Amino acid sequence: MRKKIVAGNWKMNKLQNEAKTLVNQVVDLLQNSNLSDDKRVIFSPPSLYLESVSLITNKEAFISSCSQNIYFENSGAYTGELSAAMVKSVGCEYTLVGHSERRALFHETDIILAKKVSCAIVQGVAPIYCCGELLAERKSKKHYDIIQAQIEGGLFHLSEDEFSNIIIAYEPVWAIGTGETASSDQAQEMHAFIRGLVAAKYGNTASDNLTILYGGSCKPANAAELFACPDVDGGLIGGASLVAEDFVKIIDAL
Ligand code: 13P
Repeated sequence: MRKKIVAGNWKMNKLQNEAKTLVNQVVDLLQNSNLSDDKRVIFSPPSLYLESVSLITNKEAFISSCSQNIYFENSGAYTGELSAAMVKSVGCEYTLVGHSERRALFHETDIILAKKVSCAIVQGVAPIYCCGELLAERKSKKHYDIIQAQIEGGLFHLSEDEFSNIIIAYEPVWAIGTGETASSDQAQEMHAFIRGLVAAKYGNTASDNLTILYGGSCKPANAAELFACPDVDGGLIGGASLVAEDFVKIIDAL
């Protein structure tokens, strides 16, 4: 069953008390929303707050927490890093892997990301694997090649069984934090392309069951149009996930 998901990536925002307030506000506002096993909400706070956020979300049936990053080893001399086993131990069910900010600012390659994906799956943490092209790549019509390389490089080492844990987020880099959203046609085209790649590699059942999120300036004003696309199964939300009312409006557009 393909899940519909709205995930909020807070990036490096909010102090501890603000983080608790935001989660509690969203959870309160969601009491009247019709969440279900195939319609989920995910919070991805800074890792410092993962435990306190998980304590709140784990009391709710269809709300989960997500790490923004993990390292690809379980333990050892990796100062400053967090393992999938560690985030799992504080109640976290998902992790982002390969957000464009990590690819660009922290030089994460598809080879590194493939290892992170595998490590997360072994530990029972579901990866939300992010892909997206730069504006120059889209302008030079290389966007399909770029996405194909990111999907193949980060994910296609997985077995069919392992792949069933994956969620993909398509986040065109030119739309992140810019106020410029991909049109619903642009989002649909790329999501259908990704689903086709997955069908060719893992078969139709795997591709039908795959949740593909759109991210990049998704807001209350454009969420419903994006989510109405047949291959867009929800959103990975940055800025608008920092304001409880806006985030809940986006969730209600699912
Ligand atoms: P914005 O919604 O702020 O554009 O961020 C999208 C994003 O990067 C989510 O991971």
